[in-house]
Amino acid sequence: EKPESMSLYPLGTAAAPEPELLCIFGTGDLGRSLGQRLLQSGYKVVYGSRRPHSCGPVPQGAQVMSHTAAAQSASVVFICIQREHYGFLEQLAPQLKRKVLVDVSNNLRKNLYPEANAEYLQRLTPEAYVVKAFNTLSAWALQNGPSDSNRQVYLCGNSTEAKEAVTEIATRLGFSVQDRGSLSAARELEDFPLQLFPLWRLPLRLAFGLTAFFFFYLLTRDVIYTYATQKKDISFRIMVSLANKVFPIVSLIMLALCYLPGVIAAVFQLYRGTKYRRFPDWLDRWMLCRKQLGLLALAFAFLHVLYTLIIPIRYYVRYKIAASTIAKMKENQTSELDTTIAWRSDSYYSMGILGFGLYVLLGITSLPSVSNALSWREFSFIQSKLGYLTLFFCTFHTYLYGWDMFLRSSYYKWYTPPGYMLSLLVPSVVLVLKLLLLLPCVDRSLTRIRQGWERTEPQ
Ligand code: HEM
Repeated sequence: EKPESMSLYPLGTAAAPEPELLCIFGTGDLGRSLGQRLLQSGYKVVYGSRRPHSCGPVPQGAQVMSHTAAAQSASVVFICIQREHYGFLEQLAPQLKRKVLVDVSNNLRKNLYPEANAEYLQRLTPEAYVVKAFNTLSAWALQNGPSDSNRQVYLCGNSTEAKEAVTEIATRLGFSVQDRGSLSAARELEDFPLQLFPLWRLPLRLAFGLTAFFFFYLLTRDVIYTYATQKKDISFRIMVSLANKVFPIVSLIMLALCYLPGVIAAVFQLYRGTKYRRFPDWLDRWMLCRKQLGLLALAFAFLHVLYTLIIPIRYYVRYKIAASTIAKMKENQTSELDTTIAWRSDSYYSMGILGFGLYVLLGITSLPSVSNALSWREFSFIQSKLGYLTLFFCTFHTYLYGWDMFLRSSYYKWYTPPGYMLSLLVPSVVLVLKLLLLLPCVDRSLTRIRQGWERTEPQ
């Protein structure tokens, strides 16, 4: 059993003029970076080493001693050793009694060991106060300090006083600390650094899947169809024409998919008559990755705009314009300006530009440094109201581009609709649902539910 209270002398006297002495076990990369940072922040540092006289370079100003001597000199010991080498700490348990042991270790993959490294350390030294901390920072981040990298330090442990001591050190090093609870959270903290862009995974897969699908769909409809029916090879169109269909189509669908979970959530709330019931897991996960979905969609929209900009300088386009002009001259023909076409094409370009402008605004305001400077109301105004407006402009751009193509049977090659028509499905559904949700009677119920009102079910 651990005592209820403990004294962490000399931590309690942090105001004393003498710099506080901290101990580090391990002189590897992490141990050295941590030591250097601690020294820069005004602490004294002593290293504990198996071979105090031949352990390699340590930061200037630090001492090196045997493990036993080093442990006895300080009340906080950072364990910067690999878990496989923890064994010797068991013999050191008497010297580590009532010390704060900071476990900074990580594993190479998940579920490598049955228990978390920090819990294993606690088992080896039952009378020490083990705190898991700093493991999500790299040696690089530790050495350079928080100005240039992630400033968040997560910690967990069973002793509040020990966690306070570590928090004080982390704060003095310039990091901000988040307490994740008791030592049983250690496994979760040890898994953090092993995650590779967890929130990007679903949006990336989706982008990849949609791109692949539309690429093959349009390849079949444009290139293969022309070859099969007219024996003409237009495969050169893959590089620009096809790309400039696939990218905007994927972008528009993904933008709509950012807003679809919001309307589905509203429908759930209306249907259930309460906001206090959890959404299904898939919806939660979907809502959590909307930012990543939106940023990827923005990247695809960027590609579309760049591909569109080069249309006039394409050899193929210049050739076609020259050929048709020459043909008209030969036949002594002129054509009137068709103001309908002018209106239509100008309108769809304009909608595209307005949509893209707002799209970029959405992207910029989703960056943490910008969104942190906005109040919640401002953020949700931009991301929600202007977001739907962006979706509206982009969808309208595509409808105007399509114009009356859907009426002409020649566009349904092999009975398949053109790609732009498929891309309009999800955005149209989202916009129609959103319009329905904005109807005054629906909007009023939804607002009441979101303010906490609950529809009581008849018993
Ligand atoms: C098609 C221009 C922004 C979605 C087009 C086309 C042009 C164009 C010229 C016809 C391409 C072709 O003939 O193959 C622009 C301009 C934009 C812009 C100038 C802004 C500066 C956007 C944005 C979206 C979007 C932000 C939304 C994601 C689409 C779609 C198509 C299209 C889905 C139909 C693709 C197809 O199947 O051919 N745009 N666009 N555009 N645009 Fe945009």
